[in-house]
Amino acid sequence: MSDIELRASGIAVGATATAGVSAKPIIRLEHLSKSFDKKTVLKDVSLEIPEKSIYAIVGQSGTGKSVLFKSIIGMMTPDSGKVFFKDTELTALSHAALIAMRKSFGYSFQNAALFDSMNVGENLAFPLKEVLGMKDKSKIRKRVNELLEWIELPGIELKRPEELSGGMRKRVGLARALIMEPEVLFFDEPTTGLDPVLAETIDNLVVRVNQELRITCLMITHDIPAAFRIADRIAFLDQGFIIADGTPADVAHSEHPLVQDFLQISFSELNI
Ligand SMILES: Nc1ncnc2c1ncn2[C@@H]1O[C@H](COP(=O)(O)OP(=O)(O)OP(=O)(O)O)[C@@H](O)[C@H]1O
Ligand SMILES: [Mg+2]
Repeated sequence: MSDIELRASGIAVGATATAGVSAKPIIRLEHLSKSFDKKTVLKDVSLEIPEKSIYAIVGQSGTGKSVLFKSIIGMMTPDSGKVFFKDTELTALSHAALIAMRKSFGYSFQNAALFDSMNVGENLAFPLKEVLGMKDKSKIRKRVNELLEWIELPGIELKRPEELSGGMRKRVGLARALIMEPEVLFFDEPTTGLDPVLAETIDNLVVRVNQELRITCLMITHDIPAAFRIADRIAFLDQGFIIADGTPADVAHSEHPLVQDFLQISFSELNI
């Protein structure tokens, strides 16, 4: 797409989209491959996720995004290749060392994964008590209240998950991930199933997490316009291959026919 078309579609082509992103990778993937039976899902995937960036992995359904995500966080073992977090090779760690390292990561899942038997406050307090071993009730309450204020839902600590709307559940799920002060936050399809207004609210929250809390955000998404709107870097995955990656402008300028098709389809509704 040309720069004029890109601007008309709201794609950032200037330097502002990458302001504040350090060139230093916080996560690095080297030649990851993964097969199931005879089906190869990831094929020699190498990527660098810059520290403090918003990094989006986009691609069609069934193309290997979740397998890539699980391979990064160690929920799945790649057949070959390496995953590094800073200078530590995650793929070489023992299970116990990997669990300890995962304290630097937070996860925001599609269904928010709240515990239905606990109220909101208990959901948020859970990782503080169970993972960090915090016992001081007033400190726990203070931290829970701070997070609820940060997600703009103050005072809902006594509500039960079933009383919350889908968007509120997502925000509470995010607060629970943030309470551990992770260095990297992983989002698997943060906006799938939400209406466009709510999806934008969640996207904006990802931007706040990144800009206000300076947390690296790795997001897997079907929503290509949203990726172009908020991400500093985008990787296009197709059939297990990275077919384009870089800044939104780099990817938009890719001559790969599939990337061009995707962009035309994703942004065509804006060109009326
Ligand atoms: N545990 C598994 N065992 C066997 N095959 C698997 C497993 N996990 C994923 N696959 C296969 O790997 C391929 C990629 O799956 P993946 O879940 O990564 O796709 P995706 O890009 O996340 O799709 P979607 O956008 O629908 O979430 C699919 O063909 C899937 O069937
Ligand atoms: Mg998936």
